Amino acid sequence: MNKEKLVIFDTTMRDGEQSPGASMTKAEKVRIAKALERMQVDVIEAGFAIASQGDFESIKAVAEAVTNSTVCSLARALEKDIECAADALKNAKVSRIHTFIATSPIHMQHKLKMQPDEVIAQAKKAVTLARSFTDDVEFSCEDAGRSEIDFLCRVIEIAIRAGAKTINIPDTVGYAMPEQFGLLIKTLIERIPNSDQAIFSVHCHNDLGLAVANSLSAVTNGARQVECTINGLGERAGNAALEEIVMAVRTRPDIFSVHTNLNCQHIVPTSRLVSGITGFAVQPNKAIVGANAFAHESGIHQDGVLKCRETYEIMRAEEVGWHANRMVLGKHSGRNAFKTRLNELGIVLDSDEKFHDAFVRFKELADKKHEIFDEDLQALISDAQKRSEDGSHFKLESLEVCSKTGVRPVASLTLLALGENLSAKAEGSGPVDAAFKAIEIIANSNATLQLYSVNAITEGTDSQGDVTVRLEKNGRIVNGSGADTDIVIASAKAYLDALNLIYTNKPKRHPHNGNI
Ligand code: KIV
Ligand code: ZN
Repeated sequence: MNKEKLVIFDTTMRDGEQSPGASMTKAEKVRIAKALERMQVDVIEAGFAIASQGDFESIKAVAEAVTNSTVCSLARALEKDIECAADALKNAKVSRIHTFIATSPIHMQHKLKMQPDEVIAQAKKAVTLARSFTDDVEFSCEDAGRSEIDFLCRVIEIAIRAGAKTINIPDTVGYAMPEQFGLLIKTLIERIPNSDQAIFSVHCHNDLGLAVANSLSAVTNGARQVECTINGLGERAGNAALEEIVMAVRTRPDIFSVHTNLNCQHIVPTSRLVSGITGFAVQPNKAIVGANAFAHESGIHQDGVLKCRETYEIMRAEEVGWHANRMVLGKHSGRNAFKTRLNELGIVLDSDEKFHDAFVRFKELADKKHEIFDEDLQALISDAQKRSEDGSHFKLESLEVCSKTGVRPVASLTLLALGENLSAKAEGSGPVDAAFKAIEIIANSNATLQLYSVNAITEGTDSQGDVTVRLEKNGRIVNGSGADTDIVIASAKAYLDALNLIYTNKPKRHPHNGNI
């Protein structure tokens, strides 16, 4: 059967970044974008250009770094947003402007304070303006899941006439049910006279745990683009998970008459990259990318799998990139091998000094750990990028922890705090607690610890521990991360990373659904 293409639109760096604490730096966004490009994602939404200077710069950097995927910026249906998006995208090989306006009665009345006809006029103006910058314009009806069908048909027909090539139907608040959402897509395609001139897309949130089910139901009813994020990252309960959509379509060709372009072997490495950068750990039982997704514990299952894999396995772990982490380097590897592997991973360090610093740290790691995997390199580079970022208040200079049965652990540490070496000592209920208390003697941040988690980056007891620390101060939430073969050191690094984020006053982002 000749299958139609399902366009994969990744919004990890825009909607995903809207999760509290998931903000990414420009360098991190470029790394994620390169990973998405390697995976052959069709469209990468790199941010919301007008939201902040940081977002603008990141979209520009992604547009310059990516050649094979379309790079997209979000823009409200406003002149200044669209011009800003176009400016950020001007160096992209292929660009898309994604403009949106709310169409549900509740949003139009309370948020926009606009009449339906005014919304239609503004949508038309926005799409027309966006088309003056690029041929590839997407129009979204925000809160389409709760909009009236007759009104949706009117606004979409006009948006297509004004030149929108993709029409996106978001279930902004995650309210839809699969059957109903599928029917909505089918009805829109049937009723809108010029629907054949656009690709219908869906963008589902996961508030009721149905984002993937709703997206797939839309696909069976004619949607040919799905907006999704790696690991299902996103506001509140998140967005539809890219890996689940893609693997459902691939595993059930009997149900779905579409195919995607994705190179699925990059799914697990990209999932790990995103969780390492954002500090949002993947739950072990998460489909496709969770640590247990392919683990068979019960004797009956293990016996079955040994006799015939397909008894309990519907996909192969290797298909999605599990175990693809080759041993790449060791302590005898030289600068050239190190640089080559970084290039293969799409990591480019923009100065000799940064490269030298990363190489020294690689050698230190190789002394402690014989086999260096790709994940180790990614963690090492994340750490190096954090260190080289300007404005870091705190750096760990040294840490000593005394831990003994029957005695309360004591941590003694020295921090470089705004150029000055400061030392502190504290007891704690465990070594990590003692280290955090010692840091706080110096930092005195008054931040509240909301989450502490440790994961092994690779297998084996010599693995690096990947620690996430979430802090909250005055309503602002940040996620810090740190990696080291010593988990107490990794924890201290993660705590300091979170403090540095609190003290680096990043410009406040505009909420994406702010008043127009
Ligand atoms: O959830 C939503 O409605 C959005 C749109 C801006 C596409 O993210
Ligand atoms: Zn959204």
